[in-house]
Amino acid sequence: MPIVDRFVAGAMCAVAASLFAECAAAESKSGSEDLFMQMHRVLVHPRCLNCHPKGDSPRQGDEARLHLPRMTRGAQDQGPAGMHCDTCHQRANFAASGVPGAPNWHLAPRSMAWEDKTPGEICRQMLDPRRNGNKSLAQIVEHLTRDELVAWAWDPGLDVTGKARQPAPIPKAEFNRIVHAWEKSGAACPK
Ligand code: HEC
Ligand code: HEC
Repeated sequence: MPIVDRFVAGAMCAVAASLFAECAAAESKSGSEDLFMQMHRVLVHPRCLNCHPKGDSPRQGDEARLHLPRMTRGAQDQGPAGMHCDTCHQRANFAASGVPGAPNWHLAPRSMAWEDKTPGEICRQMLDPRRNGNKSLAQIVEHLTRDELVAWAWDPGLDVTGKARQPAPIPKAEFNRIVHAWEKSGAACPK
């Protein structure tokens, strides 16, 4: 909600909080949505989005170019038979060749595609066990804060031209703090 509206709502809540519990609940819901919007800055950064595309191909670089060499997700999101992602992507970044790496490097399944989705759509599908790999909220929080593919986005290594890839915005420790605060505040999704 716009700043002014929030200020007015906040002031009204301050007056009425002791009388109307729902006022406090509404305030914490909008706080929770704000926390998700801070997380969203990271989710749609190319370091995350390049592995969460809507199509069949991973993407590369800050411009999200189609992957070169041309690559498809294959049946298991691990690349086509005979050309699995881990043929090239090792367990760690390889500075000499510019190939990024982390354990179990592969593409997020189609149900977890974030490209061209609104913050609310991304949030709801991330919390939907039918689309998020059957994860509970606690498991999603665990994944966001501890998973190695997620963590790679803060240590993305050098690209093929020898230039350092831009890491995800917001330091990792701060991102983890925001994710935990979002969970605690009820894990609300924006509209
Ligand atoms: C190298 C590719 C890769 C990168 C980079 C990557 N992911 Fe993913 N992501 C995956 C894969 C694969 C899965 C599916 C894992 C599973 O189901 O166990 C996934 C699943 C997820 C999920 C599970 C729920 C869902 O619906 O999406 C979240 C949350 C997530 N990633 C967050 C992130 C964030 C945040 C970043 C960037 C900071 C990121 N990922 C970067 C490959 C990647
Ligand atoms: C034949 C080797 C090869 C295969 C197989 C391969 N990749 Fe890559 N990949 C590369 C190279 C090389 C780069 C670095 C490109 C650059 O820095 O411009 C790269 C970069 C990427 C990036 C870019 C990271 C970023 O944010 O810039 C992603 C994402 C990616 N690959 C995902 C995958 C996935 C998922 C698979 C399997 C479906 C896969 N790759 C299969 C060679 C490969």
